[in-house]
Amino acid sequence: MEWGMRNRLAQLIQPDGRALFLPIDHGYFQGPTRKLEQPGRTLEPLLPYADAVMLTRGVLRSSVDPTRSKPIILRVSGGTSVIGDLSNEGIITSIKEAIRLNASAVSLSIFVGSEHEHQTLLNLSRLVDEAEDYGIPVMAVTAVGKELERREARYLALCCRIAAELGARIVKTYYCPDFERVVQGCPVPVVIAGGPKVDTEYEVFEFVHDGLQKGAIGVNLGRNIWQNDHPVAMIRALRAIIHDNATPEEAQEIYNALKQAES
Ligand code: 5RP
Repeated sequence: MEWGMRNRLAQLIQPDGRALFLPIDHGYFQGPTRKLEQPGRTLEPLLPYADAVMLTRGVLRSSVDPTRSKPIILRVSGGTSVIGDLSNEGIITSIKEAIRLNASAVSLSIFVGSEHEHQTLLNLSRLVDEAEDYGIPVMAVTAVGKELERREARYLALCCRIAAELGARIVKTYYCPDFERVVQGCPVPVVIAGGPKVDTEYEVFEFVHDGLQKGAIGVNLGRNIWQNDHPVAMIRALRAIIHDNATPEEAQEIYNALKQAES
């Protein structure tokens, strides 16, 4: 592997082999998502605890201080909104722009099983061809929107394996029952997204912990962090699971203690 590719992957995946990515890209199809209306404000207190931030170029330029940042995973697919068909994505940002913005990786969604499956898989293949020329890893995002209704190992394993076969260096997917089948069938590192916010913190701690035991290297977790009433406590508790091997119970204790300090 070339030096540049290895260096960028090392910026994302920490020496312990784990990763905590913080996505704030939701506005690219959802508009001003709850608690992400002002992305700079949402991000600021969380930034010290993230290993990398996933976002679009518009939010990066407008809302992130270039002198005080973390490795960037630049979302480069889009062109749709919640009003239309989410799967009809194209590539919205060039590799030249990713280099100009000093991105450590680029990310793109694939929509396996959707009307635009073919188009989004070709998007991924083309992006990999271009990004690899410059040593930039591609993170594939599987199963957003309607496709997320199929949160089962058979479907997610299919998505992840296809993404890896087409050249993604990291794959983002969802936790599901029999999650080990998803990870075992995917020859590149897998990170877990959260999806819509769940009712309790403990549920998040449990699925992240279990996902790691089953082979995921970390998370790309958004709403379940920054839509929580105590987002700093939440990200720090998750960090303890990911980087310090805390149990869900220990994470809950960390969360409870830190939330007092936050309120
Ligand atoms: C949206 C994305 C998000 O980054 C991803 O879904 C992770 O965020 P969350 O944990 O809120 O689901 O790719 O297209």
